[in-house]
Amino acid sequence: MLRLIFLGPPGAGKGTQAANLARELGVAHLSTGDLLRSAVAAGTPLGRQAEGHMRAGRLVPDDLVLGILRERLSQPDARPGFILDGFPRNVPQAKALAEITPLDRVVSFELSSHDVLERLVGRRVCPRCQTVYNVVSRPPREAGRCDLDGADLEQRPDDRPEAITTRLAVYAEQTAPLLEHYGRLGLLRPIDARGSPDDVARRLRTALEERPRPSRSAVRDPTGSRDPSAR
Ligand code: AP5
Repeated sequence: MLRLIFLGPPGAGKGTQAANLARELGVAHLSTGDLLRSAVAAGTPLGRQAEGHMRAGRLVPDDLVLGILRERLSQPDARPGFILDGFPRNVPQAKALAEITPLDRVVSFELSSHDVLERLVGRRVCPRCQTVYNVVSRPPREAGRCDLDGADLEQRPDDRPEAITTRLAVYAEQTAPLLEHYGRLGLLRPIDARGSPDDVARRLRTALEERPRPSRSAVRDPTGSRDPSAR
């Protein structure tokens, strides 16, 4: 069984890598952001409570997120293992998770705020099949249309500049402290998230093959993420 967490600032490429690695390893890709967006799209009570927080770039209250996470972790496809993408986001969530399951590794994706902004502004998503594109790094064959089902691609409401600014601040204040926490536990594996998705995938595999070790001291940029160029 393999139990991984992917941490990192918004737009660092966690979802892109988690989807590919989970498919390859036969484990579940559990994205709390995707689960919440599905609830919003379906108009469930949870979705109605979460929508305003997400649109503004703030975290959804812990009790709501923990509820959907517990439910998702109990499903059969998570039995061989899972990649948690976007959870935990703060210390209370990390403490709650520790009571639910042990962990094998925590991968932190390191990307500067400049690169984060570029990736988020260019992201487009298919509303039908949820495939993620990027106008610069992963454009669809026909501009604005999904390669798989032809649907018109959309921009996430929280990929507007004001919401991105809030998400980066929330990451720095609430999520980045988890790097120290998991570093102390010897679980943290930082990777440089610059370069092509294939470059990042290679670094990810190398990081997962290495034994866990205590983290090095962090060089932080204003997002709270470590700037790989500062190494
Ligand atoms: P969530 O969906 O988790 O958003 P996020 O963490 O901000 O992460 P993103 O999905 O924006 O980015 P990513 O790192 O997955 O990057 P991606 O691979 O898509 O959360 C959204 C909201 O839900 C939160 O703000 C909050 O409100 C709520 N929420 C979720 N979890 C919560 C929790 N636990 N507690 C409370 N609230 C919660 O890539 C980004 C773009 O870059 C794409 O266009 C992609 O094609 C492109 N790209 C990827 N890799 C590369 C590469 N190597 N080179 C060039 N382009 C690349």
